[in-house]
Amino acid sequence: MSELILLKLGGSVITDKTSPLTARLEIIERLALEIKNALVERGTDLQLVIGHGSGSFGHEVAAKYQTQHGAVATNSWLGFAEVSAVAAELNYLVIKALRQVGVPAIKFQPSASTRMRGQQLMYFETFPLKEVLGHGLVPVIYGDVSLNATQGMSIVSTEMLFDNLARELSPDKIILSGQVGGVYDHDPMTYPKASLIKQIDPTNWATVEAKLGGSHGVDVTGGMLTKVREMYYLTLSMPHMQAMIISAEVAGNVECALKGQSVEGGTLIN
Ligand code: IPE
Repeated sequence: MSELILLKLGGSVITDKTSPLTARLEIIERLALEIKNALVERGTDLQLVIGHGSGSFGHEVAAKYQTQHGAVATNSWLGFAEVSAVAAELNYLVIKALRQVGVPAIKFQPSASTRMRGQQLMYFETFPLKEVLGHGLVPVIYGDVSLNATQGMSIVSTEMLFDNLARELSPDKIILSGQVGGVYDHDPMTYPKASLIKQIDPTNWATVEAKLGGSHGVDVTGGMLTKVREMYYLTLSMPHMQAMIISAEVAGNVECALKGQSVEGGTLIN
């Protein structure tokens, strides 16, 4: 039986979150190669769905139009199109890098296949994604805009999409890779003495939740706390599945995680 992994490349690592519309191309290319290496080594043992964040592409533009709050301004629908366009621009760069090294990546545009209700993703058309996954392709989804039954529009994060996909596909692992190599008791970007929380489970969840703060740069989908909370509740309802938060800044980490080898740092959620 092959292992199914949902891998997120965080917007914090594939873009410069402090500079609008700035991709970190060399990092994207390195990560593409790491993914390729893992796929080559594991062959049909590994099925992979990739999701990526939006960093200084979608978050910046969404903050400008307040897309996450719905159709609140006169130019909200223009914003919907603008956010979708920049999210797709970053996606093009990711797909291109993956395909250049030989990963059979195929994009699935979430704004064309999802609908939310409030903060919940209530509909995600996944049939084509599942079909191509079964044929050895690597579907790539990304944080995007989504129609919303109660507020007109909203932002759908990669974690929300993964949550929905996980319930349908029952993956073995979700790996969230980003700039920060795990969950810390303080913000490690501003507090160098912060210590890594190696594991999150029901025994320490309440303490961890109380400690987590926001993220760097503009983040319209709630930052680290929201992402960790979503993963924690997902693993609670799917006990066979593991979620890991690792650094993609450390070269080789994503490759090792995909190969099932130990990585530097990282937090395990289960
Ligand atoms: C955010 O998606 C999408 C937009 C703002 C358009 P994510 O929540 O998955 O992205 P990152 O990882 O925080 O950038």
